Amino acid sequence: MIERTFVLIKPDGIERALVGEIIRRFENTGLKIIGMKMRWVDKEFARRHYTEDVAKRRGEKVRKMLIDYVTAGPVIALVLEGVHAVNLVRKIVGPTESQAAAPGTIRGDFSHQSYAYADKKGIPIKNLIHASGTSAEAKQEIALWFSVDELYKYQTVHEKHTM
Ligand code: CDP
Ligand code: MG
Repeated sequence: MIERTFVLIKPDGIERALVGEIIRRFENTGLKIIGMKMRWVDKEFARRHYTEDVAKRRGEKVRKMLIDYVTAGPVIALVLEGVHAVNLVRKIVGPTESQAAAPGTIRGDFSHQSYAYADKKGIPIKNLIHASGTSAEAKQEIALWFSVDELYKYQTVHEKHTM
């Protein structure tokens, strides 16, 4: 039940200086950071992250916009560990469409765009964060972004009380 999940703070999160605010929310919940790095990835790498699966679900045009979006600046990649971490992180992050994300979620507190607006303008929804949707997706993404020796084992105080 202790799972690992993958989070990416997208370039808008970094340019808006929300890195500390975002990471604080994961830490406060008791999630354990076991890997973290800043990278500025190229389009080829971004296509390995946003695979054909995104195109199947959201269309080829969204995939292309997304690849431009995540390669427009540096990103911060995180691996978080905790009880049901995949769903927990999605709950903290909120739904894809910022407009629909409730206050209290990262997307709801710091963004407000709608699909209708983004589609009309031909821009992606800049929703600050990527978080794995399923544990299979998490495994694939962690393997893409991190080598085994970049993931650390250590004790947090949360493990005594909540895990
Ligand atoms: O990120 P999440 O898992 O919530 O959503 P997704 O369905 O995996 O889509 C990936 C990303 O594509 C979203 O986070 C948005 O940034 C972007 N997107 C978009 O710009 N316009 C859409 N109509 C759908 C998704
Ligand atoms: Mg997704």
